This record gives sequence, structure tokens and C-alpha cells, in this order.
Amino acid sequence: MPSRDILRMGDARLLQVAERVEAFDTPELHALVADLTDTMHANDGAGLAAPQIGVNLQVVVFGVESNPRYPDAEAVPFTVLINPILRAMSEEMEEGWEGCLSVPGLRGKVPRHLRLHYTGFDQYGQRIEREVAGFHARVVQHETDHLWGILYPRRIRDLRNFGFSDVLSPVAG
Ligand code: NI
Repeated sequence: MPSRDILRMGDARLLQVAERVEAFDTPELHALVADLTDTMHANDGAGLAAPQIGVNLQVVVFGVESNPRYPDAEAVPFTVLINPILRAMSEEMEEGWEGCLSVPGLRGKVPRHLRLHYTGFDQYGQRIEREVAGFHARVVQHETDHLWGILYPRRIRDLRNFGFSDVLSPVAG
């Protein structure tokens, strides 16, 4: 599958609430997952949501082995997550740097729930249920936000912690 074009911030399609997937294990869904996965890998992303390639469905992919964009991040298993439901396991928040393939060249410091319970389905309709923390929890919250039409700059509390990756001081991270 070829890598698809990624919509960039300012495109109104990134602000829509995505629709739930109703049918699993279909050729169309497998093709979408393949396109998302290939596009994520082609751009060294930690995750990608279907709305970012112009498909308004509740489908995200994510996973980090060793990622040059997140050199200090712990590994996150490759996951296809559909129709996700998230629940914070505590009130505890953690600030951390994020980037987004729809906001190229920039980074911002975003508060996220530190501990997260999430459920959903894979592309075959198999149920996923996990309790995670730290970077894994951050990635899931970032990708799921795309399904609600939220890009991470809206979550930044202090816009002094938002800027171009090649300008921001490395010690800031
Ligand atoms: Ni993103």
C-alpha cells in the first residue's frame, strides 16, 4: 500500500468527530489499516489516526520501537485501536513533549493523564483492554484526541512551551 498524504492543521476535516466503525474484518477496513500503518512508518510517526488521512472513522494505529522523533520514549507495542473508550485511572497528570504529523516541525508540552484504562477493538473485531501509564498512555490520548477533532496545541497550558523542534532547546524536553 502506498503512503497517503497527511492533512495538516487548518484543514477542517481534522476538527470533525469521527464515526464509529460498524463492520470488522472487511477488505475496506484492512485496506485502511494498511494505509495508516504504511503512512505512519513512512513518516517515522508514533501513531496516526484515520482522520489525518481524510477518513472520518474511529481508527488509530500506534507503536514505538526506537523512534528518532522520540529518542527517550519507552517502547509501545504496535496496536490497531478502533472505537476506543478511555478512562483515566487517577487524577494525576504529567506534562510531556508531543509532536504530530499534522503539525509538522513543531513540538509542544502537553498535560496528559498519567495512568489510563482503555478498551476498543482491533481490525478483526477482537476486544482490546489495557491499563497503561506514561508514554503509552500519552500516545493513546493523543491519537484518540484526533477522533474527537482535537489537535494537541489546544491542550497546551503554557504556549511558551510550543515552538519549532529545531529551535527549542534540547534541555527543554
Ligand atoms: Ni497527531
